[in-house]
Amino acid sequence: MSEIDRRRLPRFSNDAAARLKTVAARAGRVAGEDADGAVKAARPARTDYLAVKAALQERLLDEIGERGLLENDGADVAAAVQDFAARAIASEDIALNDAERVRLAEELTDETIGMGPLAPLLADPAVSDILVNAPDQVYVERFGRLERTAVRFRDAEHIVRVIERIAARVGRRIDTASPMADLRLPDGSRVNATLPPVTIDGPTLSIRRFGRRRLRRDDLLNIGTFSPEILEFLVIAVRARKNILISGGTGAGKSTLLGVLAEAIPETERIVTIEDTAELSLDQEHVVRMETRPINIEGRGRISARDLLVNALRMRPDRIIVGEVRGAEALDMLQALNTGHDGGIGTIHANSTRDALSRLETMVLMAGIELPSRAVREQIVSAIHLLVHVRRYDDGVRRIESVAEITGLEGLTPQMQELFAFRRRGKQGRRVVGHFTGTGVIPRMVDELREEGIQVPAALFQRTEEADL
Ligand SMILES: Nc1ncnc2c1ncn2[C@@H]1O[C@H](COP(=O)(O)OP(=O)(O)O)[C@@H](O)[C@H]1O
Ligand SMILES: [Mg+2]
Repeated sequence: MSEIDRRRLPRFSNDAAARLKTVAARAGRVAGEDADGAVKAARPARTDYLAVKAALQERLLDEIGERGLLENDGADVAAAVQDFAARAIASEDIALNDAERVRLAEELTDETIGMGPLAPLLADPAVSDILVNAPDQVYVERFGRLERTAVRFRDAEHIVRVIERIAARVGRRIDTASPMADLRLPDGSRVNATLPPVTIDGPTLSIRRFGRRRLRRDDLLNIGTFSPEILEFLVIAVRARKNILISGGTGAGKSTLLGVLAEAIPETERIVTIEDTAELSLDQEHVVRMETRPINIEGRGRISARDLLVNALRMRPDRIIVGEVRGAEALDMLQALNTGHDGGIGTIHANSTRDALSRLETMVLMAGIELPSRAVREQIVSAIHLLVHVRRYDDGVRRIESVAEITGLEGLTPQMQELFAFRRRGKQGRRVVGHFTGTGVIPRMVDELREEGIQVPAALFQRTEEADL
């Protein structure tokens, strides 16, 4: 925590300070208890920095876990936490060098105190989103379900302080002049913060956790996000360098699905990713990650997705992945896809596969180049091969609702045919009941793929009626 932050923090009452000393002392004692094995037993094999950090953070929160303490978040708490971190690290038998130990102590302190009452939520790996609407309205999403927590901020000012600290850490400022900010926590979590008057009733925080472990192909299969047949087809399409656009609403699982499809990209390919806030974490080694930059306080320095895309084309990419297409970069992306840079995957905010196409068209027009509607649509239908629409159903499960192949333009209307769909039949308790099925349509790309020596089993596309998922 910086000096500035500390000066702004309220002082502690003597009572609280005394309680803290006890906690700090206990922390030191516990950390020193190695000899009798009490602590050792709980210790995992600590081979890397992040594992050490996660384990210590958990223990630290246990130690100072009384909520009253976290809510006070005064300078004395910082001291107690620092004390804990220093002692724990000094007494731990861990494979870190001195510089790493110092960094670890600083990060532990900063992340624990800096996040105020949110610290316990951030330490819970099951929490995927944290939403602060008001001092006494803090929600989390766990396993796809939103629930209200007992976590409280003292008042609106308390929320603002946490926001300012998050912003300060990444060298940004949030104030009445710029009351909205997209930020990132050191662990990669994405944060959106707003201040009044933009949010009428007070400051808000929306944190999208960067999962300790991202959902992978098998996780989504188990959850029931798609059928094995849909997965098999999409994996073939990715390997065959088809261009795929994933559509859906906010939180529908677009980015997650993008990550899962990207798992199918061969190791030998050079991947360039373009995102507003880097959240994709690909398995492949050969990845260059690019991130846009908003306008700074002096009104300069903006680097748009379009700038990045133009630059990416000069980086000899085998694949370009656009995390979310939202503006003028749509035009450059389509042009790239149409001029040999195929195998692209991206996401777009839309309500259906059809809506995705019309939004894409609107975005192309944002590039400010006068193109007749027909020319834009021609670009779109020749650049995009597959549309995959995901939806968050009311049981919290994200499912692929539809997979469609684009087949061309008839007159002015883009033509597409649905290949797979989720057929919802009803609900059983909270669970949505239904099944995935092919539509019986064999995609056009199957012929073309066969010519390239890639066999796609026709059975994948059969209609199925029975199996419930
Ligand atoms: N198939 C899924 N089942 C359950 N939860 C999911 C699934 N896909 C994503 N999630 C969770 O939903 C949240 C939003 O996912 P994300 O992919 O970021 O959505 P989007 O990019 O559409 O906004 C994340 O917390 C993620 O872990
Ligand atoms: Mg996303």
